[in-house]
Amino acid sequence: CGGGDDDVPLLGFQAVPKSLADRFTVPGGYSAQVLIAMGDPLFSGVPAFRNDGTDTDFDRRCGEWHDGMEYFGLSASGQRDDRSTTRALLGINHEWVTQTFLHPNGPSPAPRPDAEVLKEMHAMGVTIVEIAKGTNGRFAYVQGSPFNRRITTETPIEIAGPARGHALLRTKYSPDGTRTRGTVNNCGTGKTPWGTLLTGEENWAAFFARDAGDNERRSANENVAFARYGKGVTAERGSPHVYQWDTAQSGDERFTRWNTSVRGATATDDYRNEFFGQGYVTEIDPYNATAVIKKRTTLGRMAHEGAAVRAEAGKKVAVYMGDDARNEYIYKFVSTQTWDPADANRSDRIAVGDKYLDSGKLYAAKFHADGTGTWVELSLANPAVANYTTYRFADDGDVLIHARIAADAAGATKMDRPEWGNVNPKTGELYITLTNNSNRRVNPTSSSHVAVDPANPRAYADLRGGTTTLQGNVNGHILRIRDADPAATAFTWDVFLFGAESDASPTLVNLSGLTDDQDFSSPDGLVFSQVTGLCWIQTDDGAMVDESNCMMLAAVPGRVGDGGPVTLDYGTTRVTTYMGRKPSANTLKRFLVGPKDQEITGLCETPDGKVIFVNVQHPGEETDPAAIGDPTRYTSHWPGNEGYGAGGALARPRSATVMITKNDGSVIGT
Ligand code: FEO
Ligand code: CA
Ligand code: CA
Ligand code: CA
Repeated sequence: CGGGDDDVPLLGFQAVPKSLADRFTVPGGYSAQVLIAMGDPLFSGVPAFRNDGTDTDFDRRCGEWHDGMEYFGLSASGQRDDRSTTRALLGINHEWVTQTFLHPNGPSPAPRPDAEVLKEMHAMGVTIVEIAKGTNGRFAYVQGSPFNRRITTETPIEIAGPARGHALLRTKYSPDGTRTRGTVNNCGTGKTPWGTLLTGEENWAAFFARDAGDNERRSANENVAFARYGKGVTAERGSPHVYQWDTAQSGDERFTRWNTSVRGATATDDYRNEFFGQGYVTEIDPYNATAVIKKRTTLGRMAHEGAAVRAEAGKKVAVYMGDDARNEYIYKFVSTQTWDPADANRSDRIAVGDKYLDSGKLYAAKFHADGTGTWVELSLANPAVANYTTYRFADDGDVLIHARIAADAAGATKMDRPEWGNVNPKTGELYITLTNNSNRRVNPTSSSHVAVDPANPRAYADLRGGTTTLQGNVNGHILRIRDADPAATAFTWDVFLFGAESDASPTLVNLSGLTDDQDFSSPDGLVFSQVTGLCWIQTDDGAMVDESNCMMLAAVPGRVGDGGPVTLDYGTTRVTTYMGRKPSANTLKRFLVGPKDQEITGLCETPDGKVIFVNVQHPGEETDPAAIGDPTRYTSHWPGNEGYGAGGALARPRSATVMITKNDGSVIGT
């Protein structure tokens, strides 16, 4: 086996081949079982999930579209215990819903029935669920545990940090701008050393409607902001809500608030500022249902993925974040306070969050051609932000609420869709996935295109047979950033791995030289094991799904700078990037392949590394909604087809958490 730079032998398993089978496949010697799936009852008295679309009470069931996930140990007596390997809480994000399978015959058209809308609103957000290890050595979730709860799109949440009370956050619900309702489109997660869950609100903008003509009732500045965050109004048609929750038949304001249009200051349905209450990293104390939940505005408002915390004694705390949209940025927050390890064990965890996450500086990454980079500050102290003319910032709260625009002003580097980041526990280096970017070009021909640059150097997917038809960085890459200190404003960087099909061009696409046992596309989730130091890479792919369902690989990380410069020659243009040491069969291996039409996402582990938990999100997503009456046409039946829950071989597919163990009881990935 390969081994890293310590004494734990790693990757001693046989690579799992690429697969199109509708099953969850792990290496020989490993076992995988579903732990909890969408719709499973969390509370006593909630009926078992029938999985025929008739189930209700989704605020009392496990949510839909499992995504980021963290493990919070519990002692036998129910106290926080970070070392516990037998009892824990899982915090699970729920990103979207697959409407087709959530209702008996798919979703009704607008105006939508209240009950359907409520089911969808409650199926999203976050699940906190207790799990406990049985005598068989495997975990099961604990229905009826007093720790179980759901945070949904309706849960009251406090606004924290510099934007608290900002004029942009004043709504009928919170006239002083200090509270909002719910968290939505929860994607990546983070875990703080003080024992809280950070949940990233990603494509929240899709959940707001705007009326035709709303632009005319707004200032020029506001129009810039709405357009930049993906909710510009088409004059004739407005801008719809992705699921049309705002059209619920009763017209109750719990639904109409999702229309963020100007209606007149005295109108009961004027929720013009509702839009500004989403798009944050939200902090939840999983151990304490009575603790307030807070949106940490210091971390900026964007399409948040994960939040990777780097805390070292006596140094400031860094939180690294990606904004997942084409041509968006990588961000870093640096706390004002320096990290005191004694704070890790305080029981007033949200107050610890106040200490470290409510005051500090937000930066965006600017990459230079020589392999260095600069964190550019996003505040009015930066003249490029203060003097920006495209959008006029009122104050630093406005800068955080419109962090994307501030990063434009500050000249940050437009990236290929920054997804999850995680900090290598051995080196403190950030690894962050850039999942893909169909708008990356050698020669941009539209305003949505961006030119290749050293940190985003690829512009083609597949040059087999000399064809250059598939343009853009279709397969994605994984970037590394080395900050000598968490608060550093200068960094060095390189590319850890380029996703590619193994038989793609070795000079322009498969630069990392991936083999059949290693090739992957569109890296998304990325988590380091705190036990082995392995880097787990998860995919959410559209380009390689003709060859394989989405997957997870294990990588032995190295260090920034362990490779060297590589030049991509596009004929008219040459781009030099910096690449890490190429992987070998001993440093990168496919560990699992999931069922059909899903992505693998979210990963956490027991503190002994002997159990890992991963999520399967949206199996069967590509099913034709018109096929709901004919189960033989569902594109996936997982996990029913592997024996979990109701429905058997023709079950409706469900998102689910899977636990993976090694049959000999040893550490995963060894
Ligand atoms: Fe929710 Fe960007 O993946
Ligand atoms: Ca993601
Ligand atoms: Ca997906
Ligand atoms: Ca994804």
